[in-house]
Amino acid sequence: MTDPADTLPTAATNTGCALQYDDLRDWLAAVEANGDLKTVKGANWHTDIGQVVEVMCHDEGTPSILFDDVEGCPPGFRILVNWFTGTRKNLTLGFPEDFNKLELSRGYNEHTKKLEPIPHQVIDDGPVFENILEGDDIDVTKFPAPLWNPEDGGRYIGTGCFIITRDPDTGWINCGTYRVMIHDEKRVALYISPGKHGRIHRDKYMAKGEPMPVCIVVGTDPLSFLTSSTEAPEGMCELDMMGAYRGHAVECVTGKHTGLPFPAASEVVIEGFIHPGNTAPEGPFGEWLGYQGGRMEAEPWVDVSAIYHRNDPILLGAAHIRLPYEYARYRAISRSAILKENISRAGVPDVTEVWAHEVGGSRLFLAVAIKQRYPGHAVQAGHIAAMCHAGAYLGRFVIVVDEDVDVTNLEEVIWAACTRCDPADDIGFIKNAWSSALDPVISPDDRAAGKLYNSRAIINACRPFHWKDEFQTVNQPSPEARREAWDRWAHLRE
Ligand SMILES: Cc1cc2nc3c(=O)[nH]c(=O)nc-3n(C[C@H](O)[C@H](O)[C@H](O)COP(=O)(O)O)c2cc1C
Repeated sequence: MTDPADTLPTAATNTGCALQYDDLRDWLAAVEANGDLKTVKGANWHTDIGQVVEVMCHDEGTPSILFDDVEGCPPGFRILVNWFTGTRKNLTLGFPEDFNKLELSRGYNEHTKKLEPIPHQVIDDGPVFENILEGDDIDVTKFPAPLWNPEDGGRYIGTGCFIITRDPDTGWINCGTYRVMIHDEKRVALYISPGKHGRIHRDKYMAKGEPMPVCIVVGTDPLSFLTSSTEAPEGMCELDMMGAYRGHAVECVTGKHTGLPFPAASEVVIEGFIHPGNTAPEGPFGEWLGYQGGRMEAEPWVDVSAIYHRNDPILLGAAHIRLPYEYARYRAISRSAILKENISRAGVPDVTEVWAHEVGGSRLFLAVAIKQRYPGHAVQAGHIAAMCHAGAYLGRFVIVVDEDVDVTNLEEVIWAACTRCDPADDIGFIKNAWSSALDPVISPDDRAAGKLYNSRAIINACRPFHWKDEFQTVNQPSPEARREAWDRWAHLRE
């Protein structure tokens, strides 16, 4: 159940974005200073790390966990999980601790809109070169990459990672998060889905019959990971967006074999080449919808030319479990912000708030609040939310509510649907919409036939427009009066 205190307006005064960290170690120090970090020693990668993720990552407010002395791995080789919850969201995005998640989403959106990329700066040396493994020394299995789910096809070293590639025609450098599985000491597999920038680069190299150079950053700070896993326009280098968030250029070194740049403060970087024609089974992998949806397929592998790592390196973990969980929390903040922009820019007036709910992986359950202005306004907002760029892929339900409903509060949204929507009249459908092979409702036959469509329900949970002024009044004080009541009486609940 949502704690009512979580959805009250806060009294945040300092509203600017100011990052307090430059790399993962700075970030960890800040988290540790807040008492939000626990270290677990002696766990194994076969089952223990996956179990801890299951116990910790579904709920808000649980501490980050750093695994050290993982069985079979050198002491000091660590992996971090559960980093985006509670006030770590605020720390990671650089906003005040007392921002609630809606304020955080707004702040992130406003800040991002103002940013201009700052070109990364190439330097000669950096902490990531403290250890350089080449030739016989290359062994990716010595890092504490877990078997995240018992049914996964292998150990995934790349989850909270990003992959750096270069367009062979234009030289554009891209970073994208694509999962990375270990085949053996000197080979890893990359799964890049069609249409992703890294896949377009790969297709170009393969069409030319040339090896594709890659650098895989498997230990990084949370903001760099979030930047690389968020859709950026073609031609934009995410290293430069990372600089924009920081307010200064990201210092990069270049791989000795590929010449590709990567942040000098990275924890672990795997460098190598994908050679045309080399494929091997990759997957299955527990995917973001909370199902074992990433099937085993033949995917290209990377022959590792070098591993670079800091002393006592730290992998960043971001694996998937049943929703809701950590992934949904960071996607919700950014996607809610982008959705609100998309809907408003499509010409829908008075969209007051939007939330892409965590329980739907920030895609399958969207709540849109409007101040109703004219008949049909709610249906227009709902259909555009379902079909705009940020909402179109793998959606399911859109609920449109009046502006007095807190869109971030699942119970309030469902309450509005229960009390303001008459199902036979107020639910509309869209058929044959954009889905994916990961969608659990697509039958095996349809998946095999490439029928990757689903339908959408648009639920109008607003007061009926033409008699809204006669609708029964709500038994609740205004947000300001609720805040005042909580400030006075919350001690009674302690
Ligand atoms: C935790 C996480 C894991 C992801 N795994 C994959 C993946 O395995 N393959 C993929 O194609 N996209 C994956 N994505 C989505 C891409 O990272 C995302 O679409 C990103 O914008 C791709 O970058 P690009 O547009 O530069 O290719 C993942 C995203 C997250 C947050």
